[in-house]
Amino acid sequence: MERKVIIAGNWKMNKTAAAGKELVEALKPLVADVTEAEIVVCPPFTTLNAVVAAAAGSNIKVGAQNVHWAENGAFTGEISAEMLVTSGVEYVIIGHSERRQYFGETDATVNARMKAALKAGLKVIVCVGETLEEREGNKTSEVIGRQIKEGFEGIAAADMANVIVAYEPVWAIGTGKTATPEMAEETHKFIRETVSAIFGGDVAGALRIQYGGSMKPENARELVAQADIDGGLIGGAALKADSFAKLITEAIGR
Ligand code: 13P
Repeated sequence: MERKVIIAGNWKMNKTAAAGKELVEALKPLVADVTEAEIVVCPPFTTLNAVVAAAAGSNIKVGAQNVHWAENGAFTGEISAEMLVTSGVEYVIIGHSERRQYFGETDATVNARMKAALKAGLKVIVCVGETLEEREGNKTSEVIGRQIKEGFEGIAAADMANVIVAYEPVWAIGTGKTATPEMAEETHKFIRETVSAIFGGDVAGALRIQYGGSMKPENARELVAQADIDGGLIGGAALKADSFAKLITEAIGR
């Protein structure tokens, strides 16, 4: 099964509109000839419009970092899927570990957000991953199995074409500690098997699974070379055009 590599930059709470525009303007020429990978940048909400405008007509796509599950209403501080779609946004990250850790995100809210986003026509990047304590307690499979089963509850198999999973071991995020390619591959394989058990082999075979957690130009090639690693969700190394572009070319094996 050929799966197109997908590299997404999660800018987290970084970059004003002006700084986001500057990054994308610098990135565009560096990746203009990349056809082997899908490239996505995910700025904060207030930077989305500027980045959508800067990326227009290029091979850089734009994603948000969160979305609310309701269509509209009394949800102060929240953003709906329709608001994203009508702003020119194509992707949305859901269930990042920082949202699970600091903002009370659960598998149930991940599920509700996924359903709303897919219904509105967004492509979703759903994050899963274990903490250090869970890994050391041999609970990695149990935790990720639960995140997938409960997070994906009631999702139609046909909608899975618009779903990407990001495996982000929490202990590897922003720490400089990357999972070894073999360690990451083992979990990616488990994620594909779990999705296969729910949605069948065809859906699982087509599913793209990104690795995230201290991915950088120096380790991207080896990680993405693994059989079940189909790209990356990048934090720190996505904040500068040259390192993000280098990471992309490494990931596609140039
Ligand atoms: P770092 O690449 O900074 O470790 O962040 C990974 C991440 O959380 C991307 O969503």
